[in-house]
Amino acid sequence: MAIYFDETNLRSDMVGASDGVSAADIRRTTGKALAGLKNFRSLCDEGRYGFPALPFDETTCRAIQRYAAEVRGSYDTVCLIGIGGSALGAWALDCGLRGPHPVQGEYSKDFPRLVILDNVDPVFVGSALESMNPSRTLSLVVAKSGSTAETISTFLIVRDWMEEKLGKKTNQRIVAVTSEKRGDLKALATEEGYQTFHLPDNVGGRFSVLSAVGLVPAALIGIDIRKLLKGAAAITNLSWSKDITTNMALRAAMLNYLLWTRKGKSIQVAFPYSNRLWGTALWFRQLWAESLGKARTRKGELVNVGQTPVAALGTTDQHSQVQLYMEGPRDKAFRFWSVAKPSMPARIPRVHTGFEAFDYLSGHSLAKLIEAERRSTQAALTENHRPNCNFVLDRIDEEHLGAFLQLMEFETAFMGELLDINAFDQEGVELGKKFTFALMGRKGYEEYAERFARYEEKRAAGVECACGHAHHHAPAAKKRR
Ligand code: PA5
Repeated sequence: MAIYFDETNLRSDMVGASDGVSAADIRRTTGKALAGLKNFRSLCDEGRYGFPALPFDETTCRAIQRYAAEVRGSYDTVCLIGIGGSALGAWALDCGLRGPHPVQGEYSKDFPRLVILDNVDPVFVGSALESMNPSRTLSLVVAKSGSTAETISTFLIVRDWMEEKLGKKTNQRIVAVTSEKRGDLKALATEEGYQTFHLPDNVGGRFSVLSAVGLVPAALIGIDIRKLLKGAAAITNLSWSKDITTNMALRAAMLNYLLWTRKGKSIQVAFPYSNRLWGTALWFRQLWAESLGKARTRKGELVNVGQTPVAALGTTDQHSQVQLYMEGPRDKAFRFWSVAKPSMPARIPRVHTGFEAFDYLSGHSLAKLIEAERRSTQAALTENHRPNCNFVLDRIDEEHLGAFLQLMEFETAFMGELLDINAFDQEGVELGKKFTFALMGRKGYEEYAERFARYEEKRAAGVECACGHAHHHAPAAKKRR
């Protein structure tokens, strides 16, 4: 397994002192980074955070493999119902290891399709159901809390759709992944006898791809989960190293911390030059946003920190985003992801058309072109004082992807340490969820229903603007009292 981190273009020698990190910056911050590593290690040793231990959980790996072997051949579609950290990891694995959507190849019982229902868009869910056959579908409901409105509602629809066709046999075609000791999904799964897997309480959703949350769907679609864990274990060992020159996660965290807090780079662009890593980019976007966007430090000081993650795809987004990246505000740090040995080179035929735009490409390969485009984009950004780095994966296979995902989880955790924030909670999403519960009539959320009504009244009353007129937001909501 080989992953390299090329940080050269993050350095001030390459992009200038105002935009890059100097050797002196690194010397001054190394102690802080190592202290963060030590603190995070002791929090993990105390059992507060569990993702670093996941690659070593043999028992779970074996149980999942056993179950996957038992049911193999009885379905051609796995329908995963989950959202956020309960869906994005599976998508990253599917896209990375079985090919980008929608060009994965014909699905069958030997090559089951993974359909991920992670949105309550009624047309999306309705169309997905129309595209599946309940007799050949294994449904997988994933929710750590066991109560996420989107997941529960979609699950009820899918279960009903299965029951219409399968009747009592439905329960044998449903798998649940949830917390072991709490939550209504756990209670229902026990009552109905669903095959159930658990994730440890000390593993949060966005850090759960190597727990049952990601491993169950992966095993069900034929991914070798043992190899995923092997790669992740190697990176875990490396990430505990106190040698900041070789500990890629710690080093990347420190450099990005400096770019963010000292050089004003408030946006982090993940730029994979591989469609197979596109799912990983969307997974990373959640990991970085939810973990590092926080109101307060661990001591309670109000800081409102956050580096906005953006996902861009190379070369596609060179024709969509790069104009902004080159000439817009100097507020971005870039992380390119490239693959040294793509599985298909895609040769460009040898032709002599006599036309300049065609003939220079003759006999090359798309692998060479995409690499040239990535290197050129990095060079252009560097000339324009835009700090950028590159993570090179030797190839994309189970071992490399498992390692890469774990590497980013460690980097995120170390960044949380450097910023002195809790990277593992997500208080910020709670209020919106509570309003939704209130609007959907859930018991115990009456206070939020009233608060929402006050908000709507305020909107209906209109807001006074600088011109002195009250502007009403259309359509004005009906007064409730
Ligand atoms: O990272 C997180 O904790 C969240 O994104 C959760 O994964 C997401 O909210 C889904 O939660 P649950 O698994 O409880 O349905």
